[in-house]
Amino acid sequence: MWNERYDRPDYLFGKKPAGFLEAHAHVIPPRSTVLCVADGEGRNSVYLAGLGHRVTAFDMSGNAVDKARRLAAEAGVEVAFHEADVESWDWGEKTWDAVVAVFIQFAGPPLRTRIFEDIARSLRPGGHLLLHGYAPRQVSFGTGGPPNEANMYTLPMLETAFPGWHVFDAADYDAEIEEGEGHSGLSALIDFVAVKPAG
Ligand SMILES: C[S@@+](CC[C@H](N)C(=O)[O-])C[C@H]1O[C@@H](n2cnc3c(N)ncnc32)[C@H](O)[C@@H]1O
Repeated sequence: MWNERYDRPDYLFGKKPAGFLEAHAHVIPPRSTVLCVADGEGRNSVYLAGLGHRVTAFDMSGNAVDKARRLAAEAGVEVAFHEADVESWDWGEKTWDAVVAVFIQFAGPPLRTRIFEDIARSLRPGGHLLLHGYAPRQVSFGTGGPPNEANMYTLPMLETAFPGWHVFDAADYDAEIEEGEGHSGLSALIDFVAVKPAG
């Protein structure tokens, strides 16, 4: 389904990074090793590489990864792109200085739990998680995301999934976003920026 959606010359979610990422990327220390999860056509990974980070990104859609490579070439930056499914991706252990996950709500509750565990394990202590997605009421807005409330985030859910983490920013709000045709209009959004505890 995703591969067909990306089979078009323009960029479904645009070429600019998510507004959330532009607003929060400053928390990532310079020259960090960053993983972008389900990165799509590369708008977020290319932006982070342009800030000087060493960025790895994966997505299961070959069309998306091809377009992401073109976007990186246009921008004159390097990103290690991989075509991979989230379930078979080798996350590593205490590997990343930051993990960025923007609109990855293809995952229902069981897969989401596994992804959050993978993120937690693969971040190094002191590493940053930047997670952005939709709240359950987004389903009635119909401006992006799956039509399934169970896939959405709430702040208590995230605080439970990452216990003891230092939360920099946790917000549940409605805002107009224009992020390509895929995400456009009044949206119910969740921001979650947190640091994995040391030790
Ligand atoms: C809403 S898009 C967001 C893309 C990107 N993060 C962004 O913000 O532009 C969701 C992405 O998840 C990818 N995806 C869906 N299921 C996946 C899976 N099982 N493993 C890896 N990527 C997946 C899709 O190909 C798509 O690029």
